Amino acid sequence: MDARKARWTTHFGFYLLAIGSAFGLGNIWRFPYIVAENGGGAFVFLYLALVFLVGMPFLIGELFLGKVTGSPVLPAVRRLGANHGDGVTAGHPTRRPRLMLGAGYLSMGLCLMVLAYYSVICGWVLHFLARFVVASTGLSQLDPGSGLQVLLNNGWLQIMLTSVHLLVIMVVVSRGIEDGIERWIGKVIPVFLVLVLILASRSLVMESSTEALRFFLYPDFSRLTWSALGQAIGQVCFTLSIGFGSMVTFGSYMHESVSVPAMGFRVAAFDSLVSLIAGMMIFPLVFSRADADVGPTLLFETVPFLFARLPGGVWFGIGFFLCLYLAALGASLGLLETAVANVRETMKMPRAKATIIAVVGCLYIAVIPALSSSALEGQTLMGMPILVAWDKFLINWLLPIAAVLISQIVVRRLDRQTQQAEFDKIPSASMGRLYAHWRFAIRYLAPALCVLGLILQLI
Ligand code: PHE
Repeated sequence: MDARKARWTTHFGFYLLAIGSAFGLGNIWRFPYIVAENGGGAFVFLYLALVFLVGMPFLIGELFLGKVTGSPVLPAVRRLGANHGDGVTAGHPTRRPRLMLGAGYLSMGLCLMVLAYYSVICGWVLHFLARFVVASTGLSQLDPGSGLQVLLNNGWLQIMLTSVHLLVIMVVVSRGIEDGIERWIGKVIPVFLVLVLILASRSLVMESSTEALRFFLYPDFSRLTWSALGQAIGQVCFTLSIGFGSMVTFGSYMHESVSVPAMGFRVAAFDSLVSLIAGMMIFPLVFSRADADVGPTLLFETVPFLFARLPGGVWFGIGFFLCLYLAALGASLGLLETAVANVRETMKMPRAKATIIAVVGCLYIAVIPALSSSALEGQTLMGMPILVAWDKFLINWLLPIAAVLISQIVVRRLDRQTQQAEFDKIPSASMGRLYAHWRFAIRYLAPALCVLGLILQLI
């Protein structure tokens, strides 16, 4: 066990790491706009049901895989494909070791592609943070409307901001992220939550809040389209960091005594709660503005207007975008750490070299989403603007496919007694039953829902 693994053996430390990776732009930036695109309350209802029917079983499965094999996803699937009957692997040989390895590579590729896209949005957050900081010095007036336009029209600015973000995470990951990460994640999350709660309560006293809450929480199922199932599953996987192999890596850092199912439940519940609070903060603002565009820019088109109205709003703006950046930084570190852990274990490369290769690869990929609203404006992919197509293809298609493949490896190739033993760690009589439910969900229910979601997106 190396030094990094040794450190994350505290219960609380691992908990923070998993929460820090789950909690990020997926909750605050992506969730509200996906809900808005899909008609509100009914989608939220569907999403919450899928967190428990699909997200939690998969999350537990990935943590298991990491904890039991002690390695990131690529070496883990290689081991499960090659061995049988060693106490960790199921007692029978597999007929599909190549497919299993393919699943590992898919999730690693997803890590890099999503990190590229994620870094572009982190660049947007940095841009708004800088604008609020400048406004606080009195050098310029705060103009909440123009910030986004400046950014969207200037692809080079986006590339520069993306590079700054990638540089930051490169420095942290190349040194080994153990130092301090537990500590700062532990501080940022509570501060950010308090801030979002204050802002949500401010939003909720706005006139538009009744209408907004009705939209956000009242399930009007007639608004759901066929593709809603697939989109909700994509969002569940993205926000819970499933299908990337991240939770496998974190599971491999987990202490023996920590119960995987209990951890999976807590992470899923906490993450969903944060998304709901984010929705309550954003929707009254959306409804108070007739011209808000429903799409990836939604957060940046609405929240700055709230700050412009609040007394001391500039300081709220700085606090909000700073915390959002730090939360996104935690998630980005999780993504990069996953990619680097895989590259290191498979190619036997030093950490620093693996990190540089991954970051340079990401920067190359990021050029496309970064230029999508300027130099590449008007270009389409599959009939959609590039950023939208990129998001949908990765998150609504590839991610659920990767998550299903990994989950099937876990359930079919991990020794059953080892799986059961994890559930038995929780001292409660109902755990045996819970194990049976989990197995049913991960083996049949969740994959069936994912396949159905994929098919319905074709309609
Ligand atoms: N779950 C993170 C979010 O919601 C994104 C992420 C995915 C982070 C995979 C790490 C690994 O923003």
